[in-house]
Amino acid sequence: MVSTKIIEVKNLGAIFDSKDKRLEVLKDITFSINKGSFVSIIGPSGCGKSTLFRLLCGLPTKDDCKIEGKISINGKKPQTARESRDIGLVLQKPTLLEWRTVRQNIQLPLEIMGYSKNTIEKKTKDLLKKLDLEEYSHYRPSELSGGMQQKVSIGRALGYNPELLLMDEPFVALDEINRRRMNNEIINIWEKTKKTILFVTHSIEESVYLSQSVIVLTKKPSTIYKKIDIELPYPRSNQENSSTYFKYIKEIRKYLNEASN
Ligand SMILES: Nc1ncnc2c1ncn2[C@@H]1O[C@H](COP(=O)(O)OP(=O)(O)O)[C@@H](O)[C@H]1O
Ligand SMILES: [Mg+2]
Repeated sequence: MVSTKIIEVKNLGAIFDSKDKRLEVLKDITFSINKGSFVSIIGPSGCGKSTLFRLLCGLPTKDDCKIEGKISINGKKPQTARESRDIGLVLQKPTLLEWRTVRQNIQLPLEIMGYSKNTIEKKTKDLLKKLDLEEYSHYRPSELSGGMQQKVSIGRALGYNPELLLMDEPFVALDEINRRRMNNEIINIWEKTKKTILFVTHSIEESVYLSQSVIVLTKKPSTIYKKIDIELPYPRSNQENSSTYFKYIKEIRKYLNEASN
């Protein structure tokens, strides 16, 4: 049987254990994510969201980080999954190459994948179109706004055609208007590409606007406090003044308060 789960985390724990201090960051975290879903993770600042994110991506942690439990991404270890391009990463700060144009930044993963010139052209065109970036294709990163730069980062992550997009507070540096714009963009991309998206945020509003379900983490040592399904249709721009929308915001705020104490 084909598994519908793309992420499976079992009893995950993480402890930073150096000579002079011991910090238990994650404790007994268990959850799974279905293929094709959009899930947010929210938690108090400093609770370990980025640590969890790094572990899910199989990015290296410091030597003194002790890890317990098990993570499986598409049935593989996280590092293997990342190396075999199952995972696309988008971080808080866009990490674009300034000497490359938008088009060339988006082409980078395609070049690394060793596609033919024709395929690269075709895929780049498709990505630029999907992201509505065609008219900016010859811009350099520094000539774009923060939101646009992040969009190019998303385009580059999509170049590998990963099944899973992992995003760690990607829009945190944007003002409200641009953040909302990018929220709409990411939903568009999700609907067009049918990827699974796991989105880390500390904004309650953003989590309700975007996701099908929200995982609330406690303060350190962080564990799962609640998982809330957001049963509202998309686009959420048609929902954000509804009483149900506010009910979810209030509910998550309450859990987040409880989880922070
Ligand atoms: N490499 C590290 N060594 C020691 N402590 C760390 C390291 N990385 C993160 N921490 C600590 O782990 C905790 C969680 O950090 P982080 O995962 O960045 O939280 P969040 O993303 O939720 O704000 C913080 O107290 C932070 O100081
Ligand atoms: Mg963080």
